[in-house]
Amino acid sequence: MTETTAFDALDPNPVVGDAFGALLRSVHTGSGGAGAIERDDGQIEPHDAYGYFTGPPEWSPLDRQACAAATGTILDIGCGAGRHLLTLQEHGRRVVGIDVSAGAVEVARERGALDVRCLGLDEVGGLDMRVDTFLMLGNNLALLGSAAAAPARLAALAEVAAPGARILGTNIDPYGADGPVPDRHARYHAANRAAGRLGGQLRIRARFGRLADEWFDYLLCSTDELTDLLDGSPWRLAELTPAPDGPGYLAELRLR
Ligand SMILES: C[S@@+](CC[C@H](N)C(=O)[O-])C[C@H]1O[C@@H](n2cnc3c(N)ncnc32)[C@H](O)[C@@H]1O
Repeated sequence: MTETTAFDALDPNPVVGDAFGALLRSVHTGSGGAGAIERDDGQIEPHDAYGYFTGPPEWSPLDRQACAAATGTILDIGCGAGRHLLTLQEHGRRVVGIDVSAGAVEVARERGALDVRCLGLDEVGGLDMRVDTFLMLGNNLALLGSAAAAPARLAALAEVAAPGARILGTNIDPYGADGPVPDRHARYHAANRAAGRLGGQLRIRARFGRLADEWFDYLLCSTDELTDLLDGSPWRLAELTPAPDGPGYLAELRLR
């Protein structure tokens, strides 16, 4: 018998829906976590969702550092199944999660999250709270999306920020901080630049079974590019922590 792979299970003609939420529910109910991430150049890579259900010992050191540093009222942006939020909550912290995926929100609630809302980053300005620490973990600093979208998103976060607020976010430098960039990525970066975008602006969507998410922009960027994005924004780069291995980093942004 041949083994079923994530790719075998993907529908060649997907229906647009909450693929990421369905993938998280599948892991949550013990039915497997083999999804995929599709990039708009046709690249489809397996995406194992079990990591979204892990506890601190299995997290990256950067995620542990960010959660330990989170203070006051915390907003976990793109909280997924709630791994960071639930840990903070267990430690008595006031933490609210938001996620654009209704399925992710349901799973986080079923796992015990007390305050999770189905809300996108662009709608954060309407929140009835003042936030001391914004968490954008699991590389979610990339939800800034693009050089074009980032200014409005950074401004929206500042609208609900308490004085002295911080954003603690992780991201990946896509340009070979970790060794040579594979040709298919180098070509993608070059095509982006030719179109006037930052090289690491990925247009991606999650796939799971017959479902595909809506396409969205996910901005992997170097720390120099991040510094440029913050220019003229309400936030300044206060600290950078490189990952002990690989091209990831944790950025601490402070309200000016
Ligand atoms: C890579 S996962 C990270 C999940 C979680 N932070 C973690 O590390 O376990 C990205 C999450 O961001 C959510 N997301 C994507 N776009 C978003 C947006 N515009 N606003 C809020 N959440 C978004 C996705 O639904 C998904 O749950």
